[in-house]
Amino acid sequence: MADAQEFQDRLLSLGLARVSEAAALASAKLVGRGDEKAADQAAVNAMRDQLNLLDIKGVVVIGEGERDEAPMLFIGEEVGTGQGPAVDIALDPLEGTTLTAKDMPNALTVIAMAPRGTLLHAPDVYMEKLAIGPGYAPDTVTLEMSPAERVSALAKAKGCKPEEITVCVLERPRHDEMIAELRSTGAAIRLITDGDVAGVIHCAEAEITGIDMYMGSGGAPEGVLAASALKCMGGQMYGKLLFRNDDERGRAAKAGINDLDRIYTRDEMVTADVIFAATGVTSGSILAGIKSEPGWFTTETLLMRSKTGSVRRMTYRSPVK
Ligand code: FBP
Repeated sequence: MADAQEFQDRLLSLGLARVSEAAALASAKLVGRGDEKAADQAAVNAMRDQLNLLDIKGVVVIGEGERDEAPMLFIGEEVGTGQGPAVDIALDPLEGTTLTAKDMPNALTVIAMAPRGTLLHAPDVYMEKLAIGPGYAPDTVTLEMSPAERVSALAKAKGCKPEEITVCVLERPRHDEMIAELRSTGAAIRLITDGDVAGVIHCAEAEITGIDMYMGSGGAPEGVLAASALKCMGGQMYGKLLFRNDDERGRAAKAGINDLDRIYTRDEMVTADVIFAATGVTSGSILAGIKSEPGWFTTETLLMRSKTGSVRRMTYRSPVK
């Protein structure tokens, strides 16, 4: 029989799906209601309650913020029953609070779990991100390349013209120059208003989503969650932490990060096997959103294990409480 203290990803993954489903269901009644905070709080409460039912000695390493700014699921919070394997947890109970409040596509609940000490303790700062899907040689594109060089390198590797490459980018003024450079190559750009975990995941299913590459800066915590997903689905990712002031550099020091210029690969952000679950809150190109029918809510969850590369899509119908 397996040792209860081992990271039994096979058994734990089903519990993880329940955690992300519960967070999504809790936010269901708040989709499209214009209240980001209420939606996030509902998801946080539900995620924490479910997480505490799992037989793990969990520590939140990517969470809702530092202890003094988040009452629940703060970085360093211990979760689980305390019986079972020691694990790191990265979570975002509602990735896309604005998307949820405005009922726009691709809001997700997201959680990843890995053996203790194997997920990057990314501070709450920005991260420069670059991702492509599976099937390419290592370093086909790199953060050192300019955006235009990345497009031509990927087009060459894919055997197509730059015009046939689609890049996903968060629509922000800070990305204006990058977008202009990408446009000069002829590549198509899918602009998203929020939700770069989903943005990165899109690259792993390029045939379905039509997106070949993700680039630009977004939250570093979301970067570790995206790296966890890509480790399960295949694909390459790079991340570089960005610091705007001493407070942010201090956050890195507190997280034990000394080399502020380091570029992390996917497997340096997630150094061991990981399990990942995401449930759709609003419909998007990777997951259906919560479906509401009289008396019932139905959710769709993506549940993945990097050890086997297994990708499950689970539908769950639950009575409205
Ligand atoms: P929230 O759900 O916490 O609002 O995050 C949404 C998000 O779009 C992330 O996906 C992304 O990494 C980050 O915000 C980008 O930050 P900013 O809005 O400051 O550009």
